[in-house]
Amino acid sequence: MANRVVYWNGSFIPEPDARVSIFDSALMFGDMVFEMTRTFGQKTFRLREHLERLYASLDYVEIDCGLTIDEMESATHETIERNLPELEGLDFQVMHDVTRGSGSLYDTLVKEGTAPIVSINTMPLVRHLAGVSDHYTKGAHLVITPQQAVPARYIDPKAKNRSRLHYQLANLHALRLEPGAMALLLDERGFVAEGTGSNVFMAREGEVLTPKPHDILRGVSRQACVDYAKLLGIAVREVDIDPYDVRTADEVWITSTPFAILPVTRFDFRTVGKGVPGEIYSRILKAWSEDVGVNISRQAEEYRGLSETWTP
Ligand SMILES: Cc1ncc(COP(=O)(O)O)c(C=O)c1O
Repeated sequence: MANRVVYWNGSFIPEPDARVSIFDSALMFGDMVFEMTRTFGQKTFRLREHLERLYASLDYVEIDCGLTIDEMESATHETIERNLPELEGLDFQVMHDVTRGSGSLYDTLVKEGTAPIVSINTMPLVRHLAGVSDHYTKGAHLVITPQQAVPARYIDPKAKNRSRLHYQLANLHALRLEPGAMALLLDERGFVAEGTGSNVFMAREGEVLTPKPHDILRGVSRQACVDYAKLLGIAVREVDIDPYDVRTADEVWITSTPFAILPVTRFDFRTVGKGVPGEIYSRILKAWSEDVGVNISRQAEEYRGLSETWTP
């Protein structure tokens, strides 16, 4: 087993010891925010953007984590440096978790008292990527679930929070429909919102369309995808997209930190476009791979091979 360490409120502790109390508000209410950044070639990708979103999420839920964003960035780099010998030359996640800490009813029962808990962990992406490696060539299957996106006026999905039961319910529904299918959430008006861990794009007549950023998490990879498309001279618009648009799209894809960008070749059991990864998708994947110096789809394939013997 790897001897990774976790940043824990200013100290570094062995990963197996990084546990929150049953009295922590995170466990009681899902009352916490988080971030997941990844590396390419063991260098963080858009870390500052992830931290800016983390601080916006903290502000939304009114948690003062006690660190400035610069201090959080330094703590992140120190966590990575301390773990590098244990990360086997692989690319890895960098996860920031901030809980509100224990409620005052239980303050004497918890080592940290009522202070928020800030933790940062690192973990190779072997299993994350192995699980989706096939999709880069065959494409994912997106299905609409009865579970909808939570409207921003309830719990704003722009804040990356762990009150995620609705995403899990949607995942369970999707998997009941077909093993491996991925859930697509609509908003309360019936327009496409997002996946349960990803943002959605489609292409029509050479133009890229993506849902308006209201009832969604504004993904860092979503922004990266927009930036690469623009660099390639491809127009991108944020618009209301309904299921009919997805069904008749030339191409559909999703973006998220672990896998960057994945093609969607089936939507609600029907073929999307030509049923293979599309041309615009492929150009963006190539630009992304070149920019980060990692062949993203090939890496996923390598990690699939590795996952047969590798354990976290
Ligand atoms: C609900 C949701 N939407 C979108 C995303 C994609 O965000 P990012 O590209 O920042 O990883 C995520 C990532 O976990 C997510 O949980």
